[in-house]
Amino acid sequence: MNGYLILHGDIVEAPSFGKLNCVEYGYLVAKDGRIVGVYKDLPEEYEGQPVTDLAGSIIMPSFCDMHLHAPQYPLLGLGLDMQLLEWLETYTYPTEARFASNEYASRVYYAFAKDLINGGTTRVAAFSSIHKEATMILMDALERARVIGLVGKVNMDRNCPDYIREDTAKSLEDTEQWIIESRRKYRFVKPAITPRFIPTCSPELLDGLGKLAAKYNIPVQTHLSENSDEINLTRALSKEYAGYWHEYAQHGLFTEGALMAHCVYSDHMERSVMHERNVWAVHCPTANMDLSTGIMPVRRFVYEDINVALGSDVAGGAAIFMPRVIISAIRASKRNWLATARNERCLNMAEAFYLATSAGAKRLGYGGGFTPGDPLHCIVADDQRMCMADEGRSLRERFERLIYRMQPADITHVWSEGERVK
Ligand code: GUN
Ligand code: FE
Repeated sequence: MNGYLILHGDIVEAPSFGKLNCVEYGYLVAKDGRIVGVYKDLPEEYEGQPVTDLAGSIIMPSFCDMHLHAPQYPLLGLGLDMQLLEWLETYTYPTEARFASNEYASRVYYAFAKDLINGGTTRVAAFSSIHKEATMILMDALERARVIGLVGKVNMDRNCPDYIREDTAKSLEDTEQWIIESRRKYRFVKPAITPRFIPTCSPELLDGLGKLAAKYNIPVQTHLSENSDEINLTRALSKEYAGYWHEYAQHGLFTEGALMAHCVYSDHMERSVMHERNVWAVHCPTANMDLSTGIMPVRRFVYEDINVALGSDVAGGAAIFMPRVIISAIRASKRNWLATARNERCLNMAEAFYLATSAGAKRLGYGGGFTPGDPLHCIVADDQRMCMADEGRSLRERFERLIYRMQPADITHVWSEGERVK
């Protein structure tokens, strides 16, 4: 990590929404783990420094997965003939309950962290389960694998089976202890307040969580307007329903930087409050398709200047590898284009790639693309196995094909927070 790192290859980055910067056989220079810049020609001052030649590969920023459930990793690809509420009861809660065992948690979480890095995801906003100790094990596993970001101990105290329901006071007590311990212990992963969703959280619990978020100045992550049955249930449970967002807002949980997964059914009012308060939408297109929830109109959020990032929502979405989520986002947006009488333009590759890299990175405090001064988060992927790879395609075309076709094995190098991890 000390000294210069100079990568020489085809470089692609999406510094802002819709902008793809392609530098053919250029140089990405880092010093002491931090980005210095991207150059077409190597500036004189770096001549004589060792250069890593990556001809035939594409260098790009690593992925940010801004919504996923770590304890659901063993469930990946299971039960997806069901819809959300049935899937939670049948598959998710029983699986998450197993994280009462630290031994089980270790086995899953170390594999999970390894697979994230292997697939080029170095930054996340992850849900854990209700268990305080298992949540610390998840943070350990991510920290050691050098996956950066937010982790949340889940809170839930109603409308769920006894074996996974928390006592309200104990839930808040555990959460506060875990915040204090994890802040002391970890450098790369930070706690996030994580009420599961409105149906499983009592007003008392939400109130306590809002107070903890304010007391420790901690971001919030949760689910918002994902599924029609969930929304109907939320409405039925509310004393004075003024929109899904308001169920969080009245407890201080709809605040600057909060990450709201899904937003498939967010109406105009909900979106305008999101915009006003800089609440983020996390688009999870694979999960929206796999759990038959609906199509999130990403373009509308973008038009309205609401921050959007991408999430896999493992295991509601049956893929942990972010290129699959990028492709899903593009496909879902094409469906939305048709559904809006061709009014809301679909996402193109540059836009979807931005959502999977720079958007989440910005939420976590980095710049977009390869911003000078940022710790290096970067992957190198080899596209030479593609059919007729040497046919003289432009870098932009090779990049597009790679995102559609790549597999984790095509990723030959990964840097996270300035250090080589694959
Ligand atoms: N809403 C509440 N819990 C969950 C979950 O685990 N996954 C998804 N997709 N939605 C949820
Ligand atoms: Fe989720």
